Amino acid sequence: MFRYLPEQASEIAPKIDWINNLITDLSVFFTVAIVGVMIFFAIYYRKKDGVDHETPQIKGSHTLEWIWTVLPTLVCIYIAYYGVIYYQELRYVPDDAMVVNVVGQKWNWSFKYENGKETSNVVYVPVNRRVKFLMESKDVLHSFFIPAMRVKRDLVPGMYTYVSFTPVMTGEYHVFCTEYCGQDHYDMTAKLKVVSQAEYDEWVNYKEDLSAFTPVELGKKLYTGKGCNACHSLNGKKIIGPSFLKAYGREVELESGEKFKSDENYIKNSILAPNSQIVKGYPKNQMPAFEGQLDDTQIGNIIAFIKSLDGSQAIEEEVLPEKSDVDVTKLTPVERGKYIYQNKLCVTCHSLDGSKVIGPSFKGIYGREGELQDGTKYVVDDEYIKSSILKPMSQVVKGYPAAMPPYEGQLNDDDIAGVIEYMKTLK
Ligand code: CUA
Repeated sequence: MFRYLPEQASEIAPKIDWINNLITDLSVFFTVAIVGVMIFFAIYYRKKDGVDHETPQIKGSHTLEWIWTVLPTLVCIYIAYYGVIYYQELRYVPDDAMVVNVVGQKWNWSFKYENGKETSNVVYVPVNRRVKFLMESKDVLHSFFIPAMRVKRDLVPGMYTYVSFTPVMTGEYHVFCTEYCGQDHYDMTAKLKVVSQAEYDEWVNYKEDLSAFTPVELGKKLYTGKGCNACHSLNGKKIIGPSFLKAYGREVELESGEKFKSDENYIKNSILAPNSQIVKGYPKNQMPAFEGQLDDTQIGNIIAFIKSLDGSQAIEEEVLPEKSDVDVTKLTPVERGKYIYQNKLCVTCHSLDGSKVIGPSFKGIYGREGELQDGTKYVVDDEYIKSSILKPMSQVVKGYPAAMPPYEGQLNDDDIAGVIEYMKTLK
């Protein structure tokens, strides 16, 4: 009865479900047995025809007393016994467990693997291997919850906590913050990707050659990788904090009334100690301090990235001129779609690896189902994609800002068909 739990994707899940379902069933059984009989008696023995009947005197029954004392006690001991056993199993971590460091902060999850690799809002683990997520919070209380794995634990500033589990099914699972931690708590989610050991090894050992990138590109990677994008837009829109668009050289007025032009020192200090200079009109204590989390080179890269957002290549209004040496009509539809993805700035907001940037990722997008801001359900098909490109504001996906410019008049039907074909390849 009442089987409402999500898929059992970890080793412990069937056990937890078993005890949980047992408690639910017992509760339902006793609720019906007690309340049901009570209601029945209340109706059956109501005062009929205004005649008083004397209530019979019933003396106690030792047999009954024994039954309803001993039986529930045994049931409780039984439940407590398995509760303790399974809890121990849940909390015991073998020495060879794979450790992933988890940092929660408003409003972003970041993960660091044993070899130093880091990710943000997506975490990979190999299947059938015990993992331990060692967690810390940079600001307030958060709570780390993976329903499919049946693990949940608070993150407490100033101390480490952990969850541990053995995933038994590959797939993608939701991670939630399940403790109210401020304005964007609802959006503090991540994806857990359980993959085969071979896939995991390949993924975790893959290192991008950072020397191939310019500081601006590296800064942009940090912008999404460190979760700046949760609060700072690139298009001039105010999310939680000020937009990065034209943030360099901008006239800044602080809460204190102090005015100056934004420069390198200001940006650096804003990253390391944000609360020391809150811009007028913006809330305090929203941004976590990145002191100790970014080195000087990384900060330099972010500054370079912010400087590059001087409006000369506006994210929203303007579209980059197409490179003249590419004749899109000669490309296959998929190639054409990919070209448009890269050159019409889709790439700025839509990732290909499943991570959330500004808009939904294009990975596995075709055929995806979900809910729009206004609560209506959608399925991503040709029609949906077309109108999302031409009139994006008409169907903003729940949990995303209405931030995409309409491409009406900028892309023709063949271009859009190409994008659709390209999306279909992004499994
Ligand atoms: Cu973090 Cu709610």
